[in-house]
Amino acid sequence: SRMPDLVVVGAGLFGLTVAQQAAENGHTVRIIDVRGHIGGNAYSYMDMETGAEIHQYGAHLFHTSNKRVWDYVNRFTTFTHYEHRVYTTHDGEVYPLPINLGTINQFFHAHYTPEQARRLVEEQAGELAGTDPQNLNDKGIQLIGRPLYEAFIKHYTAKQWQTAPEELPASIIKRLPVRFNYDNHYFQDTWEGLPTDGYTNWMERMIADPKIEVSLGTDFFDESQPWNKSALVGRVPVVYTGPVDRYFDYALGELKWRTVEFKERRYDEGDHLGCAVMNFADADVPYTRAIEFKNFNPERSGHQNPGKTVVWEEYSRAASRGDEPYYPVNTDADRRLYQHYAAKAQDEPQVVFGGRLGTYAYYDMHQVINSALIAYDKQVAPLLS
Ligand code: FDA
Repeated sequence: SRMPDLVVVGAGLFGLTVAQQAAENGHTVRIIDVRGHIGGNAYSYMDMETGAEIHQYGAHLFHTSNKRVWDYVNRFTTFTHYEHRVYTTHDGEVYPLPINLGTINQFFHAHYTPEQARRLVEEQAGELAGTDPQNLNDKGIQLIGRPLYEAFIKHYTAKQWQTAPEELPASIIKRLPVRFNYDNHYFQDTWEGLPTDGYTNWMERMIADPKIEVSLGTDFFDESQPWNKSALVGRVPVVYTGPVDRYFDYALGELKWRTVEFKERRYDEGDHLGCAVMNFADADVPYTRAIEFKNFNPERSGHQNPGKTVVWEEYSRAASRGDEPYYPVNTDADRRLYQHYAAKAQDEPQVVFGGRLGTYAYYDMHQVINSALIAYDKQVAPLLS
């Protein structure tokens, strides 16, 4: 196989966006991915039994206020009118999220006006006013008061981190949004929706160009296959979206990540949760939330099985090597370690590091597409001329 103009490691949204831009500007591209499919963590597949589109790496909702990104993604797919809403089960009752006036009035069995509710929350948060919270628990109380914090945040956070909030750094939460009206529309971005014929069709159309070739099941660090690091780096421009510490063979140590595990449940019911995402706020349910994929696409109900549904329970835990890295742990030590890797990355000849793994950052899809469009213009295009 001839050397292309550009090699992209990773077929996630960062790699696909860069490849698409390069091809559009006349360049040939080889994309490789160690997985057996394109799309990275945004990949999804159809479940034949229920007609649900399963997001294999967890629930993915597209939303953005960035006009350039919105125009860009609309070249490859239209979006449904899905609007994300999340509910939470606490102490035998279901409440709307994010915490809003509906949540507050249900919780306190009250009919507070926005102003009354605001004053109540301020008063309850006053318990720790003027102190400098040293852990997440105190920070949570200081932000929204003990009753709401203990009901809706405390145990959920403990499950997410598998650590008591008293032992977590206060810096994990900067703010806890509380809305003093009944708006439980989860995202507040200008545009929102799900790709009309699914994530994978969207992403396949991004690279439907004869100048782009894809090799799946291909590990950049496997020297027995031609598209490997030692064969390529310094010979052809490379965009690398895998883990930055792995690229340098963990020479400075490992960056820490959290992962999630899913347990699939099938029910002989048309609708099990009545919504797409249900959180479980209490300690007695071991998972953080449950996802019922059919409910992301109500517009497809005519093609879904009215008598069967599939639900994924989500369990959160620390990742070790071999697990899928999902959320950067991001302690101060991790940030410092990443800065050292970033400095090494600067010195790599003709290699551009990008995406969530390549830059050790949590990005939403719209953010990763935006950063890929910018990286193409500023860093990749100059290597191709
Ligand atoms: P991504 O991880 O998608 O792609 C990197 C690719 O590189 C992978 O396919 C991997 O296999 C490949 N790779 C790694 N090492 C390799 C090697 N050695 N050789 C070859 N290939 C290699 N966003 C959003 O907007 N709305 C949402 O609702 C959600 N929800 C969500 C839930 C969960 C649980 C997670 C973890 C993430 C989200 N996201 C999200 C974020 C979204 O998944 C994220 O923005 C994109 O996947 C990032 O795309 P990247 O291309 O950066 O990485």
